[in-house]
Amino acid sequence: MEKKQSGTGNATGPATKEVSFLNRIDLSSPDIHQSVSLLKQACLDCGFFYVINHGMSEELMEEVFEQNKKFFELPLSEKMKVLRNEKHRGYTPLFDELLDPDNQVHGDYKEGYYIGVEVPEDDPKAEKPFYGPNVWPSDDILPGWRHTMEKYYPEALEVARAIVRIIALALDLEADFFDKPEILGQPLVLLRLLKYPGQISDPSNGLYGAGAHTDYGLITLLATDDVYGLQICKDKDAQPRVWEFIAPLKGAFIVNLGDMLERWSNCLFKSTLHRVLGNGQERYSIAYFVEPSYDCLVECLPTCKSEKNPPKFPPVIYGDYLGQRYKDTHIDLNVYNKLQS
Ligand code: OGA
Ligand code: NI
Repeated sequence: MEKKQSGTGNATGPATKEVSFLNRIDLSSPDIHQSVSLLKQACLDCGFFYVINHGMSEELMEEVFEQNKKFFELPLSEKMKVLRNEKHRGYTPLFDELLDPDNQVHGDYKEGYYIGVEVPEDDPKAEKPFYGPNVWPSDDILPGWRHTMEKYYPEALEVARAIVRIIALALDLEADFFDKPEILGQPLVLLRLLKYPGQISDPSNGLYGAGAHTDYGLITLLATDDVYGLQICKDKDAQPRVWEFIAPLKGAFIVNLGDMLERWSNCLFKSTLHRVLGNGQERYSIAYFVEPSYDCLVECLPTCKSEKNPPKFPPVIYGDYLGQRYKDTHIDLNVYNKLQS
């Protein structure tokens, strides 16, 4: 990972803080060996990399950002009509999520909107947590909004599948290892629109756009605008922790590995701690969390263990893990019921 001091900074960049530029994985490159090697290096080093030439058009990415902005500009009363439900679909108001309770005085200074796998209510799969129908803002209020999101969702999944194949190769597995029915056959994908209002974060007083956390699943595809904010910490055990900004890269996805890849790979690959600091400017981002199916059993890969290096984690059912992480980090929905009654 290259580093540089951005001496004077620019309109949106930090003036003195250290900025990191990540390895770029070019999905259009015919040199798969080079892609595997660049990706592997990034996964061993910091668990973050850029993906470029990924096949999703700039128009679609821009359209999603425009629609994203339009939603969050609605009056709060309108947004509360599509408040997050127990299936984790819909609007998450400011402070709804508290990612790092030990270091935050209140929830994250961000608003969000969750869109997941569309499962009709009468489908037996909808009995499981996280599977169910989406909620949508009315088409009269935001024409074309749902259509845009429904276009982005499967296209981003194609990009994710291509990345995951390279990850499999980097772990000495068959390229289609993660395509199994229980992993990416019916993945638990969550598209999350995010807006960080123009608040200035203040880590020494426990105020953050998003508190320090790792992502939970396989990988996350993050699209951001050009406002700085995302930081990573390569060594979560170091004291004090060292945080580096990740430079936004137009048209690219910033991709990071989730906790399941750390477990599958027995900590060879990293699910790196990251957070978001507000710098006083509004910031928009679009996170696309690619996660295994609810019932997937995640256990150490044969290529990542040996007699000298036994599994560091017990096997886990992904849905149990995810359910617990959401419970730990989101406000109990009853709080909103009480506020509204
Ligand atoms: C997340 C996340 C970063 C960002 O939603 O998990 O890390 O830049 N988002 O919004
Ligand atoms: Ni994250």
